[in-house]
Amino acid sequence: MTLTLNAPLDMHLHLREGDMLRLVAPFSAAQFSGGVIMPNLQQPVDSLPRLRAYRDAVVQACGVESFTPYMTLFFRAYSREELLAVRDEIIGIKLYPAGITTRSEAGVSDFDRINDTVALLEELDIPLLVHGESHGFVMEREQEFLAVYQRLAETFPRLRMVMEHITTTESVAFLNQYQQVAATVTLHHLMITLDDVAGGLLQPDLFCKPIAKTPRDREALRQAVFSGHPRLMFGSDSAPHPRHAKECVGCAAGIFSAPVALPALAGLFAEAGCLDRLNAFVSDHARLFYRLPPGETKTILEPDPWKVPERYGSVRPFLAGQTLSWRLQG
Ligand code: DOR
Ligand code: ZN
Repeated sequence: MTLTLNAPLDMHLHLREGDMLRLVAPFSAAQFSGGVIMPNLQQPVDSLPRLRAYRDAVVQACGVESFTPYMTLFFRAYSREELLAVRDEIIGIKLYPAGITTRSEAGVSDFDRINDTVALLEELDIPLLVHGESHGFVMEREQEFLAVYQRLAETFPRLRMVMEHITTTESVAFLNQYQQVAATVTLHHLMITLDDVAGGLLQPDLFCKPIAKTPRDREALRQAVFSGHPRLMFGSDSAPHPRHAKECVGCAAGIFSAPVALPALAGLFAEAGCLDRLNAFVSDHARLFYRLPPGETKTILEPDPWKVPERYGSVRPFLAGQTLSWRLQG
């Protein structure tokens, strides 16, 4: 029995630049019909010329026409003219609290001063994608940030907002209160808890932001995803770093899951007895929220065990060395 997915999407993806971009992009292009490309490059993608140059580099690195890069701009104070000029070329604007994660230094340091730009996003119907963490205690950052989400959702009731890579029970509950809010969920947050990261020998490959949480949180995420919550969509947050940046003092945050994304998800959904819901999680929910047309490509998976390599170039992938029971066909 094979599994056919209709134009699956990765709604949160870091592809980087240069050699790293050329190494990692083909893994996403081989599985997905499109992806939401994060703008946290060395120099943030925060202008139309930079956006166009980056999109061209992504298209070239993918090497196929079947993958659509849905571009994002890095949040800053934008004028109406700037937003009007870029609106048709982006899927949304990505907001990072300053310094909260990899290459987010240029992010927002004062949330009381973002209203003018957010009001424009609401008016122009441009989705706001948010890395929702405070600078508090690492396990409580996401929960503390819910106050910001709430203020935004109530001040801007027509704003389409995405809570990126949610990890907690409280975030799932929050999502249920606001119809105009959606969330992405990663593969790794469905699989691991803090114990996998730091409960035994430290595992730099599993260190990411937001940090993996408790078994109870993981269960809440699983329940919401496996029950088919219509405003939960897959976003891998695949975020490659070379080994020397992971296996060192000051390990970079990020898990490189792109090569295993759909095979591992198929395994999880099959184990939970809801393989029939995978297509909605990786395609329909995102298309509905972002108003994307139905895609035409098909991705076929087959039950055929394979061992995940220890390395792809300079990067160690998520689930390295483990055997997955679903394989990408072709
Ligand atoms: O772990 C992470 N890595 N979380 C993020 O939010 C950013 C990402 C990266 O760019 O490496
Ligand atoms: Zn990310």
